[in-house]
Amino acid sequence: MFDVSRTRRDFPILSSRVNGKPLVYLDNAATTHKPRVVMDSVARFYKLQNSNVHRGSHTLSNVATTEFENARKIAASFIGSPDPAHVIWTKGATEAANLLAYSLGDLLIKPEDVILVSTMEHHANLVPWQQTALRKGATLIPVPLTDEQTLDISAYESLLKKHRPKIVALTHVSNALGVINPVEQCCHLAKQYHATTVIDGSQAIAHLSVDVKQLGCDFYFFSGHKCYAPGGVGVLWGKEDLLKAMPVWQCGGEMIKHVSFDHTEFNDLPFKFEAGTPPIASVLGLAAALEYLSTLDRQAVQAHESALRRFVVDSLQQYSAIKVYAPFAENVGIVSLSISGLHHQDAAFLLDEHGIAVRTGHHCAMPLMESLSIQGTLRASFALYNTREEAETFVAHIIDLLSSTMASNQPIKPNSDQTIEATLPAISFPDANKLVELDQRLAAEAQQNKLALLLSQADHPSLLPQSYHCDQNRISGCESDVWLVCQKLEVNGQLFFNFAVNSNAKIMQGLSLWVLSFLQGKTASEIQRFDVTEALYSRGLHRFISPSRTNGLHAIVETIKAYTC
Ligand SMILES: Cc1ncc(COP(=O)(O)O)c(C=O)c1O
Repeated sequence: MFDVSRTRRDFPILSSRVNGKPLVYLDNAATTHKPRVVMDSVARFYKLQNSNVHRGSHTLSNVATTEFENARKIAASFIGSPDPAHVIWTKGATEAANLLAYSLGDLLIKPEDVILVSTMEHHANLVPWQQTALRKGATLIPVPLTDEQTLDISAYESLLKKHRPKIVALTHVSNALGVINPVEQCCHLAKQYHATTVIDGSQAIAHLSVDVKQLGCDFYFFSGHKCYAPGGVGVLWGKEDLLKAMPVWQCGGEMIKHVSFDHTEFNDLPFKFEAGTPPIASVLGLAAALEYLSTLDRQAVQAHESALRRFVVDSLQQYSAIKVYAPFAENVGIVSLSISGLHHQDAAFLLDEHGIAVRTGHHCAMPLMESLSIQGTLRASFALYNTREEAETFVAHIIDLLSSTMASNQPIKPNSDQTIEATLPAISFPDANKLVELDQRLAAEAQQNKLALLLSQADHPSLLPQSYHCDQNRISGCESDVWLVCQKLEVNGQLFFNFAVNSNAKIMQGLSLWVLSFLQGKTASEIQRFDVTEALYSRGLHRFISPSRTNGLHAIVETIKAYTC
């Protein structure tokens, strides 16, 4: 029997509060929290065993090496690998996929060959293969999905028959939809056409019992941080004959037996693919996480996660304005949805105000989103520590969001890709003084009121009219659609710039108008000096935007700077 309240006590972070509310963490597909045993094992290593591995001529190093190699045995046994030497430590799933795309790609792929992937791949199991195909003059072909957003098995079989791919790279579970692919059947079919199979287990490993022998795959990989382990470590499992035949990938220490200036003899498996010092503490943490999972009734855990998902899907599907993707497919506990009239980015910010953490966007699966003709979804992903109460809280807030969206006099317009009409309406550029007032209000407002003020800018009187919402005016690099038009004004031989902007996400609408408060009616050199990061921090708005340099607001500012320089 699986006891979720007891399990929760193993995860200290779950008792924290976010924005004054108890944390409801539903972003487990991005990364999972860590149980105390995992943190303890990392701390124990640094407190008592810290040393490098495999090159020790002292006791600590020997202890660390023994623990490290024992961790490999634990990982091997967790996925049913007959031999620990077939388990290679990587930095994570992405590194494993790159290792394979380079090394296995070099071994197997020739010009004119075909590599098969699915339409639902995470970029990590897609872009490396795409680049291999480009390097080798081969072709990458995606397996389409059915109308129910599951892998189209008959199309898969036809593609195998028609193209006889050298490599089939499939995800075990879709990170964007949670759909479980029939990988055992896929590997069996692939073998009939002599394809080598690579399975991305990143979203499966925390939820499903994995046995690589039973799956019949040639390679299987996953990241530790998705299954309650620390970041920076992953597992790549492969079949011995292929691993032995594959050329080395990264070179350096550890992966060699003997080196002279004109020749290197490479090490045996698994060290041949482990150049340099490995992430020792993270490896030990991963072993602790896998042991932790092994103490649980994994079928009961899976049933618990599936029941949470079923409850959410059944509750939300009653609303015609909510679309749940792949509602009926076998699923690990991911709900991917969109709410008509409400941008997923806005929904996530509003949920975050209530301490509910979800993920929105394309989920690193842009081709999947394109095949569904959407920009992104709102994704709630469950883990073993989530409760029915948390699922109920999530549902209640989604229904609240839906009601307020419906009640809003000015629902956010759906995406539109209109071309520019013959006669365009005049643009009313936002008044610079009014924008400065907005900035001053935002600066003065208490933190909890800033979001409401930003969102209220969706009713701003001077938004860029709909007729200008076309590709030509779209800013690339934003998660939401943002359209911008610039106006140059010459006064006494000096150029000044004005801008009008609009977005289909309310939060981005508010933020982009706020950004204009620093730029409207300014000269090129004033605009070039503007530092958006500094401005965000000084007004306490940074929490509404990803701190990365590639967020949408930076894209807007960069576009404006490029235009005016
Ligand atoms: C299915 C899938 N594959 C690969 C990855 C990449 O994992 P990492 O970023 O840990 O390398 C992810 C991460 O979200 C994923 O969900």
